[in-house]
Amino acid sequence: MYHLGIDVGTGGTRALLTDERGKVRYAVTATHEEISIAQPLWAEQRPENWWDAAQAAIRGVLAQAGASGSDVHGVGLSGQMHGLVLLDREDAVIRPALIWCDQRSQPQVDAINRIAGEQTVLACTANPMLTGFTLPKLLWVRDHEPAAFARICKVLLPKDYVRFRLTGEYATDVSDASGTGLFDVAGRRWSEELIRILGLDRSILPSAAESACVTAQVSEAAAKATGLQAGTPVVAGAGDQAGGAIGSGILDPGDVSCTIGTSGVVFAYTDSPTYDPAGRVHTFCHAIAGAWHVMGVTQGAGLSLKWFRDTLAPSMSYDDLTAEAARAPSGSHGLFWLPYLMGERTPHLDSRARGGWIGLTAGHTRPDLIRSLLEGVSYSQRDGLEIIEQMGIPVKSVRLSGGGARSAFWRRMLADVFGKKVVVLETQEGSAYGAALLAMIGTGAFGSMRDLCREAIRAVESLEPDPRAARMYAERHLVYKSLYPALSGFYHSR
Ligand code: XUL
Repeated sequence: MYHLGIDVGTGGTRALLTDERGKVRYAVTATHEEISIAQPLWAEQRPENWWDAAQAAIRGVLAQAGASGSDVHGVGLSGQMHGLVLLDREDAVIRPALIWCDQRSQPQVDAINRIAGEQTVLACTANPMLTGFTLPKLLWVRDHEPAAFARICKVLLPKDYVRFRLTGEYATDVSDASGTGLFDVAGRRWSEELIRILGLDRSILPSAAESACVTAQVSEAAAKATGLQAGTPVVAGAGDQAGGAIGSGILDPGDVSCTIGTSGVVFAYTDSPTYDPAGRVHTFCHAIAGAWHVMGVTQGAGLSLKWFRDTLAPSMSYDDLTAEAARAPSGSHGLFWLPYLMGERTPHLDSRARGGWIGLTAGHTRPDLIRSLLEGVSYSQRDGLEIIEQMGIPVKSVRLSGGGARSAFWRRMLADVFGKKVVVLETQEGSAYGAALLAMIGTGAFGSMRDLCREAIRAVESLEPDPRAARMYAERHLVYKSLYPALSGFYHSR
């Protein structure tokens, strides 16, 4: 008996099967088309491509397991958050999705703050409005593509488009809905007040359920397309960060994770909604009923490396890149990388921030360039951890996951830059794994998430920071932190 977790990521869609004890048995990824960046800081993907990738990944993982649809007892979904998928009356996709890192909607953020008031936005949603969130993207379409806006019948998040294709249902879950900018995070429901103030049509929003609730079944059409069995239950699932946190066992106060994928996220469990007064970290619902989390987001984490590879070193693999970085000394000979390739969320909340190297000389080598990328992303993640600690949330150790955790070199660097113990888990599957675990709870295959995670999740490595390296990085982090304020006048002058 298997449970299937599907993660609609940025680079690809992953399908993964867990066994009765919650262990990962099989996993297949189908890659997506490249993000379309028609203008600087725009970022779009085609939802139909996510569904194609989901079908390929599901078929692929069933084939890998030699399983048939009837061996799969439940399905969970997770996915990149904040993306705007628009469906018309015939359920056709109206335009490509504006995805999480799209930064075009600052004028719409300003307009929301003007109309509703920043304090009301905070009171309604527990977060300041940000260009990263879904609502300003929706208003950008209203302002710039009125004909497309007029056709909207439903607004969905990325994984929820795949859910729609899988089940015919328009639904989301509370953790993913938290990142729309329209969700009452404390009350775990849509914010009727903000919807009213902004004059939005309530009927375009999907229903929002707790993550482990079964909300629909695989349809006949989707069964034919994927090899799953019609009628298989599908749980609401989670945004990729909350789903990943389930997969990393972040279930109690003091549990903290760092996930470096395209974005980089530090994530801490809280048992009540807890806010940073400046809104520098997000306060969202967790994928467990009655729990919340805070998270700090680096927009261009793995993206910094991908950009470097695609633009400057197309023949290198990520392993080649980290091996080359290891040839430079820590501190990269005084070179700093600012990872603000798609603006920045934590801690600056600034869609106009820009990336770049500072301190470059003719003496720097390619290893310095690459190592500084890894260091800059790590400093940015430390920014998030510091805010979490300032909020009174203890950070004793940090569990690592995502592509960044696969590199032993980067794991050591993260321990030293954070000045904290980092823990590596046996399974670094993250979000797809969390989605499968949610399906196991939702279908009753396992009684409680805590028991399931205790049974299934194991730490395999734990690294203490090296005191000398940690001291050096703490000093360099202060220099890194001084760069954004020095540059912000330039960012805002253009
Ligand atoms: C989280 C976020 C990203 C995306 C893509 O707020 O924007 O992590 O979910 O992974």
